[in-house]
Amino acid sequence: MILKEQPRLRHNKVLNVFIVSQIPKRISHPLGIGFDQIELFLKEYIRKDRDEKTSTPDLGLSLSHIEKIEGIEEMLSGIRQSPLCLIEGCTSPNNGKALKEFIEKIGINNPEIHAIDLIDVKTFLRNYGIEMPMTTFSVGDATNLRKSYSDSSVDVVAQDFLLNCAPYTTHLPIMQEVKRILTPQGKGLICFTDQQCILGQEQITYQQVQKELGLRFNEDAFCIRDLLPDDKRYDLDLKEKVLNELKGKVLVNGREDRYTLVTTEGGNFEFFQPFDSYQKILLQSGLEIEGMEKSSGIDRNGITCVRYRTVLRKIK
Ligand SMILES: C[S@@+](CC[C@H](N)C(=O)[O-])C[C@H]1O[C@@H](n2cnc3c(N)ncnc32)[C@H](O)[C@@H]1O
Repeated sequence: MILKEQPRLRHNKVLNVFIVSQIPKRISHPLGIGFDQIELFLKEYIRKDRDEKTSTPDLGLSLSHIEKIEGIEEMLSGIRQSPLCLIEGCTSPNNGKALKEFIEKIGINNPEIHAIDLIDVKTFLRNYGIEMPMTTFSVGDATNLRKSYSDSSVDVVAQDFLLNCAPYTTHLPIMQEVKRILTPQGKGLICFTDQQCILGQEQITYQQVQKELGLRFNEDAFCIRDLLPDDKRYDLDLKEKVLNELKGKVLVNGREDRYTLVTTEGGNFEFFQPFDSYQKILLQSGLEIEGMEKSSGIDRNGITCVRYRTVLRKIK
């Protein structure tokens, strides 16, 4: 497949507006920007043999945990009827349906469900004859939603491990956007995993990566390809060479607050931080945790993780 650079100006088909991505110039694919070998990454979500125990979770699974948070109905009681709900980072086809059913179950009727992702997940799914029921999907960048959503216009924002798939430099802008678009009574249903799960993996520091491979680690990178020099970005042999050196390893920044797992899937990265670091980002964004469920599960790399499923509110 021929990979070519895509313009950073993206067209939002639903709203018929152009969105300028905040994400720096990086590798792109006909289906979108961000991860490498997008199809390999997405295929996990349409596997026929998916099950709760061993598959990468989806929003439906997270909502079944959020449902168990004590006082959840009270927490969500200020949400108006016919709410606008936005799923950020949406790879599973059934996320919209699951969110709609969750909202209706707590007595709020007629939710309108939107979903965005940097990748055109809808087109990918369509190629496999799969629909995204009850969901208005568009390609969008959660770091900048100004053209699509005005201040205080969204009642519920849901993220299912988006932060574990988003480079560090984007975390604060993403959560600041959540704060901006939420209505005063609106809630964030935000799920993330901390770093404990990958502490057993072999570690390599940013400095070692530079010394041994001549590559500078950028905290805005999604994948190995983002670390390669501009003129070598599409050099498959070089990418494979770097991937062979780094796969399964965790890149660490030495301050014990950033742990980046290099997955075997296309050399894509997964991003992990201690719980306190997430909390700092939330506070800086003007958000706080109102309710939380903590449990463990197995991720796509077969690693057992601690998963935090939170209900967020705006700090008054
Ligand atoms: C772990 S996946 C979400 C999967 C999720 N568990 C589900 O149920 O669909 C994270 C997604 O976030 C997307 N993503 C990362 N950064 C983003 C951003 N700035 N804006 C929108 N989507 C983003 C990635 O493209 C990826 O598809």
